[in-house]
Amino acid sequence: MTLRDKILYMLELKRGEYISGQSIAQSAGVSRNAVSKCISSLKDEGYPIDSVNNLGHRLDADCDILSESGILARLGGRSDCHIKLFQTIDSTNSEAKREISNGLDGCAIFVAKEQTAGRGRHGRSFYSPNESGLYFSCVLHPNVSLSDSALLTSAAAVAVCEAIEGATKKDPMIKWVNDIFIGNKKVCGILTEAVSDFESGKVEAVIIGIGINLTTEYFPEELSGIAASVGKVYDRCKLIADIFTRLESICANLPDNSFMDSYRSHSLVLGKEISFTRNANSYMAKALAIRDTGELEVETSEGERISLNSGEISIKLN
Ligand code: BTN
Repeated sequence: MTLRDKILYMLELKRGEYISGQSIAQSAGVSRNAVSKCISSLKDEGYPIDSVNNLGHRLDADCDILSESGILARLGGRSDCHIKLFQTIDSTNSEAKREISNGLDGCAIFVAKEQTAGRGRHGRSFYSPNESGLYFSCVLHPNVSLSDSALLTSAAAVAVCEAIEGATKKDPMIKWVNDIFIGNKKVCGILTEAVSDFESGKVEAVIIGIGINLTTEYFPEELSGIAASVGKVYDRCKLIADIFTRLESICANLPDNSFMDSYRSHSLVLGKEISFTRNANSYMAKALAIRDTGELEVETSEGERISLNSGEISIKLN
C-alpha cells in the first residue's frame, strides 16, 4: 500500500471524525510533515478533508469518491482480499479472468469507473458510461461443483437486491434468472463466469460481474425503453463492500439454499404471465414456482408443466 492509500484508509475508517496528524504519522511510520504533504495532495485530488489545528484531519462523512481504500475500510480492512480500481478498462470480468490466469488465487474485487467493452449475458454488451454506474467483478473460490455454481447467479441477485434496499428506499425485484428491476425497467445485470478444473469437475474460481446503473440518464436507443437507473447512492464504496460481503456469506452456505427464500420474495415473475421460446417453439405460460435449485416452474397455456433451468423469458409488465 502506498502512503497515500494508507492515510486515505485511516481517514476512511474514521470518516466524519478528526484524527491527529501525530497519530496518523505514528501508524504510518512517517513524519508529520510527510502526512501533511499527503493530506494536501488528497485535497488537491478533490477529497473533502477538513484540517484543524489541535484536532487533526477529518474526511467528510458524506464523501462519495470511489477508492480502493474506501472499499477496503468498509470491508473491515481485510488483508486477504485484493481490491483494484480502474478509471477505465475494457471489462472488469475480463480483467478478473486475466488476473486468475496470471496466478491470482485469493478473493478479489475489480472495479471500474467506466468500461469500454462491458460484457453482458448471451454475448451482449453492457453499457457502462463513466462514473454513472457501478461496474465491478467479485472473484470468489466457493467449494462447489460446476453444476451447483449456477446457483451463484441467483445468490448474486439476492445480494444485490438486499444491498440496494439497505442503501435506498427502492424496491428492487429479480426477473428470473438474474436481472434486477426497479418498477418495470432493468437497473442491474449480472454476469457469472466460472473457471473450472475439467478433471475434478470442481470450480476453481467464480467471477461474478455486476453492473448497476446509478445515475445514467441517457441510454442508447436500443436500451432506452428497458433500462433505468437506481438513483444516487451516497456511499458507493459501502454498496460494493456490502454486496461482496453478502455474496461471500451466501457462497459459504450455498448448499443449504436458504437464500432462495429471499430470491423468491424478490421475484418479479412469480404468479405472472410470461412467454418463452424452447426448441424453436414459443410458449405462453404462468410462472408458478422457483425451486431451490433455481429452476422456474411454469404451466403453459396448454396445461403442460415445464421446468426451465436457463434461457430468457419475457414478462408482461404494466
Ligand atoms: C447482463 O445484463 O447481461 C449482465 C451484465 C453484467 C455487467 C457487468 S459490469 C461488471 C462486469 N464486467 C463486465 O464486462 N460485465 C459485468
